[in-house]
Amino acid sequence: MAKLIGKNKIYCAVFISGRGSNLKSIFRYSKKKNSKIILKLVVSNKLSAPGVKFAKKNKIITQIVNYENTIKAEKEILSLLKQNDIKLICLAGFLKILSKNFIKNFNGKIINIHPSLLPKYKGLNTHERVIKNKESYSGCTVHFVNKRLDSGKIILQQKVKLYKLDTPKKLEKRILKIENKIYPKAINQILSKI
Ligand code: GRF
Repeated sequence: MAKLIGKNKIYCAVFISGRGSNLKSIFRYSKKKNSKIILKLVVSNKLSAPGVKFAKKNKIITQIVNYENTIKAEKEILSLLKQNDIKLICLAGFLKILSKNFIKNFNGKIINIHPSLLPKYKGLNTHERVIKNKESYSGCTVHFVNKRLDSGKIILQQKVKLYKLDTPKKLEKRILKIENKIYPKAINQILSKI
């Protein structure tokens, strides 16, 4: 993990594709006196993502990256990360898979949040699958990103109980609230170890 810079903070980027509730919670954390990050950059592959509006409104450098050509897109992102001295990337609902090469470039400095109790329910449609399998618990996990999908070392996770009448929507809502709480905690935790 990166060394902390002046004022004991590092520059951080958040990658999004949509709503941006985790982006907001990371932003709120970054504004706390004792936070360990300065949220300097937001990258989105979608101009229409509501999170983009939030980032611009809050004067965070915001870049929309055209993903028609993945190699070009990642090249552009890597140069942005360098320019802005980014030491930590937080994926928050970013729907593009980063290449092995990209991950190698930022080895150990990319984290993600996933709406299940990993290693269970990797991939998409987690809530539907959890309900179908009549699980008693689901939850969310913050983990390091490695070259295998949703398989990196777990940093923090929290359980959420399932109810009889749960629907994927209801469960998503309850889990998202917890996600928004544990993401900043996980960031703080990994940066406290430096
Ligand atoms: C969250 O459920 C997260 O776990 C998943 O994508 C969703 C992003 O939500 N990776 P938001 O855009 O942060 O609100």
